[in-house]
Amino acid sequence: MHLTSIDSLSDDQIERVLSEGLRWFDYNRQRRRNDHRLDGLTVINAFFENSTRTLLSFEIAANRLGAQVVTMQVEHSSIKKGETLDDTARTLNAMRPDALVIRHGTGGTPSEVAALMDCPVINAGDGTGEHPTQALLDAATLRRHFGRIEGLKVAICGDIRHSRVARSNRKLLERLGAEVRLAGPPSLLPEDADATDIDSAVAGADAVMMLRIQRERLADDLGDLPGEFLENYGLTAARFASAAPQAVIMHPGPINRGVEIEGALADDPERSLITRQVEMGVAVRMAVLDLLTADRRD
Ligand code: CP
Repeated sequence: MHLTSIDSLSDDQIERVLSEGLRWFDYNRQRRRNDHRLDGLTVINAFFENSTRTLLSFEIAANRLGAQVVTMQVEHSSIKKGETLDDTARTLNAMRPDALVIRHGTGGTPSEVAALMDCPVINAGDGTGEHPTQALLDAATLRRHFGRIEGLKVAICGDIRHSRVARSNRKLLERLGAEVRLAGPPSLLPEDADATDIDSAVAGADAVMMLRIQRERLADDLGDLPGEFLENYGLTAARFASAAPQAVIMHPGPINRGVEIEGALADDPERSLITRQVEMGVAVRMAVLDLLTADRRD
């Protein structure tokens, strides 16, 4: 089994990852951790795009469960000598890993690599495609906070067009019964998006998830002046005041403070779940590694 998209998972598997993720979340806060169920397995991380949260949380998740973790140094690999991605995948496969976690700038790469591998492949973000473990950790964070996901109004705002996080979150949250509202500048919305303006999206929302402008994926700069994006499309205190009374703020990170979100809102100890999302990332990735490697341990 591979995890290349939210569509890779059945409803039962999603439920298992969320409930086990919440269990691992509590487990990770304990001083003593002695569950080494991945003992003897090898996990390879291959990140062809930069990462702090996803890479480190996969490393910690696999280590915490007792696996041996190897992170490929892409910049120092034979990719730089012209080796193709397919040949790289065949090479990694020959080393008999038990799971491969891959991030790549081109959409669809994890599925192409999965076809060449004998072990589970986990998509850690593919271009503007998907980021399924981010959506799973976001859903687990919402469930932990609200006790449910069904019926929640979740506004996802910012650069929707280039966001693999938005794509995976929309699929997952709608499957779980949430109302998902998308909002952003017209040039940063996908053509098929049923989108609204940010003020309408935030009004009455239970959760507001802000997204970074992915300037590295823009053909042309937006041409916005400092502060202009925040004023027109970002989360300000004045805008957030129209959300539901107990609304929370989320962001997958990295944050561009003062661009898509006011820094003080990101740091709000009562309302911001941003560091909680990071903490949940380790827990949910433990649940994902456990699920995908289960038949290798029987
Ligand atoms: N949310 C996320 O994917 O962050 P990183 O790019 O730091 O992994």
